[in-house]
Amino acid sequence: MVNYKDLGLVNTREMFKRAIAGGYAIPAFNFNTMEQMQAIVMAAVETKSPVIMQVSKGARNYANAQILRYMAEGAVAYAKELGCEHPEIVLHLDHGDSFELCKDCIDMGFSSVMIDGSSLPYEENIALAKKVVDYAHQFDVTVEAELGVLAGVEDEVSAAESHYTKPEEVIDFSTRTGCDSLAISIGTSHGAHKFTPEQCTLVNGVLVPPPLAFDILHEIEKKLPGFPIVLHGSSSVPMEEVETINKYGGHLEAAIGIPEEQLREASKSAVCKINIDSDSRLAMTAAVRKHLAEHPGDFDPRQYLKPARENMKKMYIHKIVNVLGSDGKLAEC
Ligand code: 13P
Repeated sequence: MVNYKDLGLVNTREMFKRAIAGGYAIPAFNFNTMEQMQAIVMAAVETKSPVIMQVSKGARNYANAQILRYMAEGAVAYAKELGCEHPEIVLHLDHGDSFELCKDCIDMGFSSVMIDGSSLPYEENIALAKKVVDYAHQFDVTVEAELGVLAGVEDEVSAAESHYTKPEEVIDFSTRTGCDSLAISIGTSHGAHKFTPEQCTLVNGVLVPPPLAFDILHEIEKKLPGFPIVLHGSSSVPMEEVETINKYGGHLEAAIGIPEEQLREASKSAVCKINIDSDSRLAMTAAVRKHLAEHPGDFDPRQYLKPARENMKKMYIHKIVNVLGSDGKLAEC
């Protein structure tokens, strides 16, 4: 049994309280590779931002659970080496689908876990989330649960259509589960193809997706004042990355994300954790494709992973400073 505190990690409790009071959101970036981890830490240190590094079940299968846990420990040491004396880094399980997976992560040093029972019947979702909360809270690990279903595909999580969170359920759900934060469904979805062109409106040659259901968000906020709300599926799918990918041999059609202005607006509310994965994948792939197309003789992975890391870092800094507003929000620098 490893406790996250011994690894220099923190849970989400205090950072969420400050984020809600301060009207900003904490970035939750997914990672599978060393370059993503380095870029996340460099961006968080440069901007003096708290950060959540999250690992999905698919990431654990890809990179190995032990390796990812040691990478998070390394992330704390790396942040300190980069000059941040008091980094606030959370190691979070994204979309845990069973009690056993959550327990395994808690036992190996995760400081936060998500139990995603959103596809289960309501009472079963509550029972599963409560079981995880009861175990996690013994070790001061925070728990995110989900109500409502997001459409889209991400690793092993997929749903054909979304079901918005029902505001009338949130008090009962959060009270009976004891969860520390609640992921809700208000129109975001996983992946780089969040909307079909038919669902969008053409404005000045740009496809603008339907707005998020802010009315539902505000109703939930009224029912649970000050309670931390989480938005999954919040990549904005930057057009310049998609265009670079397509210019250099890729084929990404109709990739559409969540406009950043809407995420900026959400950050000012009780939404205090915003999940971004696809934008990192796009930034990495665009840089690798461009480099390899322009340097066909290169075969040392460092030659193309270095610009990939730079591009991801640039994207993470942009999100922190211009979208979520968590820059300069470390409790102590
Ligand atoms: P995106 O696919 O929009 O990046 O969402 C990631 C996410 O919600 C991870 O849980």
